[in-house]
Amino acid sequence: MGMTRTPLIAGNWKMNLDHLQAVALVQKLHWSLKDASHEFDDVDVTVFPPFTDLRSVQTLIDADKIPFGIGAQDLSEHDSGAYTGEISGEFLAKLNIGSVIIGHSERREYHAEDDRVVAAKTQAALKHGLVPVICVGETSEDLEKFGASAVPVGQLETALENVNADAEIVVAYEPVWAIGSGQAATPEQAQDVCQKLRDVIRAKLGNAAADATRVLYGGSVKSSNIASFMREPDIDGALVGGGSLKVDEFSAIVRFGKHVGV
Ligand code: PGA
Repeated sequence: MGMTRTPLIAGNWKMNLDHLQAVALVQKLHWSLKDASHEFDDVDVTVFPPFTDLRSVQTLIDADKIPFGIGAQDLSEHDSGAYTGEISGEFLAKLNIGSVIIGHSERREYHAEDDRVVAAKTQAALKHGLVPVICVGETSEDLEKFGASAVPVGQLETALENVNADAEIVVAYEPVWAIGSGQAATPEQAQDVCQKLRDVIRAKLGNAAADATRVLYGGSVKSSNIASFMREPDIDGALVGGGSLKVDEFSAIVRFGKHVGV
């Protein structure tokens, strides 16, 4: 965990929880953290609900002044027009959505999103004032053929083309084989790749961006392993899938400081 960067724990709900369940979970998570006397300023928490939940979650967060960010799981590379089923960054910005996941491996795999699409969506997010959470990671075949870092490094290099040095971005390293498998990367491997991703940020956007940008690890993060990742100097948080759907588990992940002893 970098000394000057505020850790970010991001909950990627994927296609789970309708808007009523979403509101209930956010409320319970807030209560759980308050009950545990959690210092909200110490860790940024952002949830990424399905599109149909965003308005309800945003209304709740506003009304109850809950200190969580809200993000979307995807956006269109276009602003508006004949793109049936797509969601514009402009609409997300109007809902006070702060960030958006881009290039998640499930989008790359099931929706044929390649590095060009990821770069275009990154531009679309930044244009509308949304922080892109750019996901990169190698499959198990990539790992065997090229090692862990070559594919994610290449993916990030393409995504950052034409990004301004002062743009706020988040990078998530998610080895595809670790997602939803229960088999997380080792902290050492995750640190090694996250450090190389930070080097890409430094080369493309400069020192200030490399020092300020949060690089997350994702893939089977749990309350029992989060502390080991957060001890690493280039890991600034986590993108959590399954573990973000259960109140007690996600609350414990957010309170990783208790396990790390910081
Ligand atoms: P997981 O998912 O925590 O369930 O492995 C992570 C992700 O896909 O972002």
